[in-house]
Amino acid sequence: MEIRPTVLVVDDEPGARESLEVILENDYRVLSVGSGQEALEILQRESVDLVLLDVNMPDMDGLAVLRKIREQDEEIDVVMVSALNLARKAVDAIRLGTYDYITKPYEPEDILSTVNRVVSKQKLYKELDFLRKEVEESRGFDEIISQNKTMQEIFQLIKKVAFTTTNVLIMGESGTGKELIARSIHRQGNRRNGPFVAINCAAIPSELMESEMFGHEKGAFTGAHTRTIGKFEYAHGGTLFLDEVSVLRSDLQAKLLRVLQEREIERIGSNKPIKVDIRVISATNTNLEEAVGQGKFRQDLYYRLNVVPISIPPLRERKEDIPLLAKHFLNKFNTAFNKRILGFTEKALDALTRYHWPGNIRELENLIERIVVLLPGDEPVDLKDIPLEILMNSGQDVEDGEVRKMGLIRIRNAIEKKIILNVLQATQWNQTEAARILKINRNTLIQKAKQLGIQLRR
Ligand SMILES: Nc1ncnc2c1ncn2[C@@H]1O[C@H](COP(=O)(O)OP(=O)(O)OP(=O)(O)O)[C@@H](O)[C@H]1O
Ligand SMILES: [Mg+2]
Repeated sequence: MEIRPTVLVVDDEPGARESLEVILENDYRVLSVGSGQEALEILQRESVDLVLLDVNMPDMDGLAVLRKIREQDEEIDVVMVSALNLARKAVDAIRLGTYDYITKPYEPEDILSTVNRVVSKQKLYKELDFLRKEVEESRGFDEIISQNKTMQEIFQLIKKVAFTTTNVLIMGESGTGKELIARSIHRQGNRRNGPFVAINCAAIPSELMESEMFGHEKGAFTGAHTRTIGKFEYAHGGTLFLDEVSVLRSDLQAKLLRVLQEREIERIGSNKPIKVDIRVISATNTNLEEAVGQGKFRQDLYYRLNVVPISIPPLRERKEDIPLLAKHFLNKFNTAFNKRILGFTEKALDALTRYHWPGNIRELENLIERIVVLLPGDEPVDLKDIPLEILMNSGQDVEDGEVRKMGLIRIRNAIEKKIILNVLQATQWNQTEAARILKINRNTLIQKAKQLGIQLRR
């Protein structure tokens, strides 16, 4: 049997209550009371879906009751019932957040249709809520794509550590999915309803880092105009993600170690300790153990952070994932840009698989996005759609008919771009120096860079 929604009728006239009961009792469970006071009491203990509230009552009138109900419950739907000459009051009530009003005398159908409308609206919201949760949950697991054996082991490990507060250190080259893994640990564990707070140690200027981590009191230093809460405090009850932890300044390494031991922080300019309950996941794309060896990273902190190590293999070591990920991103961007690109030709997929992907999954994702934007659609991605820089680095023979078809100019541009980029990187983007090595004039270099889409840095 379906659970019937509950309607609470509040009216001082017994006759009016009775007729509302008769109208509603077929479809609803009806509770009825004669005063605002009784209504408030019932609402404390019963679960009510909708209140039908008379405006004109002795003692406490409908509007006063409504105000009290709102103090107790901001969400509950209230429909006001009023004599025509009191309709203005009912309009006031709309401002206090009632759903609707009905004027007396009414037809039974008016009552029923209004109540039905409110209840079906509620049902819709509940369904939407449910769907939203479903989508979030399915994403939590589907998002990380991999058939690689090492990755499968990582997924198992994630499941196990998710329900602990053990510190986890995620290691992997840039773009391998470190943040994705960190979020997945958060979402699968019992802290999922708490915050996930990320601090990127490499992105925040070192002089602001301490305040970013621990917050500060007003006036703690020049420029501290207001009290600011730090990320550690924000993360209370949830997960703190320390990204690029290897670059943390040494005095802050010491402070971090203390926080992890004591489980409390102090805002800058205050000596009042604040308890924080956080699970720490850190990530690094450089070898932290090496940094310890070189004296750049505290050994004791390294051991603290690295209770459970997770080492994500680079994409070139799990080539079987490349076609999967390529198709995944193709679907994603087809949907995002409302396109219809029909997969990949075998040769295209083969070239993608052979490439070494120094930027890992992020690089693959960006490439597929660019391809989807540029292609008209209704055809698969072909070799000709893949940038030459990638083809040149995936062992494609220039003699290969497919590559030759692209034309000399594109091939020459790709080679030039690669060489110019190499030299620029080697000279730390020093244009004069790069031009000298390339044996061209600096203006020619600037012009070529512009043609080839190379962003010259200062
Ligand atoms: N296994 C995967 N399946 C699907 N998408 C992935 C996977 N791994 C990474 N991605 C996607 O690749 C991009 C890069 O991932 P993420 O930001 O987690 O990498 P990262 O290791 O933190 O990179 P960086 O070192 O550059 O910060 C994100 O858009 C992420 O959603
Ligand atoms: Mg990252």
